[in-house]
Amino acid sequence: MTDPLAPLSLGSPRIPTILIADDDEASRMLLQDLLEPEGYAIIAAPDGNAALEAARSKAVDLAILDVMMPGETGFNVCRSLKSDPNTKLLPVVLVTALSGSADRVVGIEAGADDFLSKPIRREELIARVRSLMRIKQYVDRLEEAEAVVCALAMSIEAKDPYTEGHCQRLAEYCTAIGQRIGANEDEMIALRRGGILHDIGKVAVPEQILCKNGPLTTEERVAVNLHPVVGEQICTPLRSFSDVLPIIRHHHERLDGTGYPDGLKNGKIPMTARILAVADVFDALTTQRPYHHAIPAQEALEVLWEGAKRGAWDGDLVKEMEKVAVLPALPVKVEGN
Ligand SMILES: [Fe+2]
Repeated sequence: MTDPLAPLSLGSPRIPTILIADDDEASRMLLQDLLEPEGYAIIAAPDGNAALEAARSKAVDLAILDVMMPGETGFNVCRSLKSDPNTKLLPVVLVTALSGSADRVVGIEAGADDFLSKPIRREELIARVRSLMRIKQYVDRLEEAEAVVCALAMSIEAKDPYTEGHCQRLAEYCTAIGQRIGANEDEMIALRRGGILHDIGKVAVPEQILCKNGPLTTEERVAVNLHPVVGEQICTPLRSFSDVLPIIRHHHERLDGTGYPDGLKNGKIPMTARILAVADVFDALTTQRPYHHAIPAQEALEVLWEGAKRGAWDGDLVKEMEKVAVLPALPVKVEGN
């Protein structure tokens, strides 16, 4: 079967690299001698600290860690790698003593992906490494696919000079609001991605409509209003984007049902989409657009409060936007005044 993600692998493939951490040189050399003939590049580390340093600074595809090492143990290194967003997807194999069932329990709790027992058996080592490398390759390709979609979103933003920096600011506003209202980790990731991806469906809207000075015709309005649906269709194939889809589809809904594309009301609109809706309007008002001048943040918040009173937006979220908008770390871009 053809791999649907295969076309994304461009250029010459990098040699898959394995990090081996063991304080015993003979054990390191044994693993190296078994793995190098299989086509893997090896980075050797004599202790846990060196292993952590290598995993964070070099392109590593798999880590094989001895449990007992001076300084940071294999368990600690594994725990650190799995709690760091930059290395949490790196597969980790812990090498334990043959009778180390207690070690395995600790290893599972530390997030290890697999185990090897000493003495190392060549066939078992190769089989486990191949299996984990295959999974790592799929994860890498998925990340490439996500990067392509995000790049597409940024290129759409770049088509319209009026919206420069809009996606990035929205990602910042949304996550700042999410943090304040206690969003969980998945929701925080969705909010950040939603900030970047929410308008990706505008790829289907002709540039002369996107950048038009003056009111849109009915047909043009219909074309623009399709962008949440088109955006959802673009991102649906990527399963890791599933939490972002409701944001993309519903970021123009209004609590009173006057929004689009589905005219959803109140609690039917996902919270993440309601957050983005408020941040989107605030950013649109405070930056120069073809159809209006930028207004100061305070006036934009007043517009949002009026909308909340009318029942369009969630008053509690407008209150959070008010707090987030004045954060010094989140400067409001005001142009043209
Ligand atoms: Fe939009």
